Amino acid sequence: MRMTLAVVLTGVLGAPVPALAGAGDISVARGLQVSITGGCNDCHTAGYNESGGKIDPAKALAGTAIGWQGPWGTTYPANIRLKLSDMTEDAFVQYAKTFTTKPPMPFYNVQAMDESDLRSLYRYVRSLGDPGPAMPAALPPGVAPATPFYVAAPPTMPKG
Ligand code: HEC
Repeated sequence: MRMTLAVVLTGVLGAPVPALAGAGDISVARGLQVSITGGCNDCHTAGYNESGGKIDPAKALAGTAIGWQGPWGTTYPANIRLKLSDMTEDAFVQYAKTFTTKPPMPFYNVQAMDESDLRSLYRYVRSLGDPGPAMPAALPPGVAPATPFYVAAPPTMPKG
């Protein structure tokens, strides 16, 4: 019933209806939690894994310049603050439901978040202050990175 009403109102107003957006509340605090349980800091926050899960506010979701190398070449966890800095909240929700990337970014996990997760994540990211610099551009296969990198090649099956 609620779903139906939301769909009808969305159709009439041409925009999502925040009060009916999802199961949870929408807040910066919840966005922080989504970023932790969603695993975003694992790759996008420098020092997070090494410190046993501490988030340095200056580095939170600002990307890491450690590459991930596999058959796709080498990719770098993007500066999410920078990516969102020129997007409205509504534009981010649309983007998050449809974007794709190269590995190992689990874009399908972001696509599966509900709208209140995404709006909360957006508000948390935008609360983080100065975006800071972009991370290195992705490299095609066969090009040697100038940075440290993890090798994420899939395991090779033993022969015979
Ligand atoms: C296993 C490491 C890993 C995890 C976990 C991860 N990311 Fe990523 N992310 C990456 C990499 C690497 C890229 C760059 C992919 C590329 O170049 O195609 C990326 C790219 C992105 C981009 C695209 C930025 C752009 O410039 O287009 C967004 C947005 C993003 N990640 C958000 C998230 C969010 C939100 C989470 C948590 C739900 C998350 N990531 C979890 C590694 C990761």
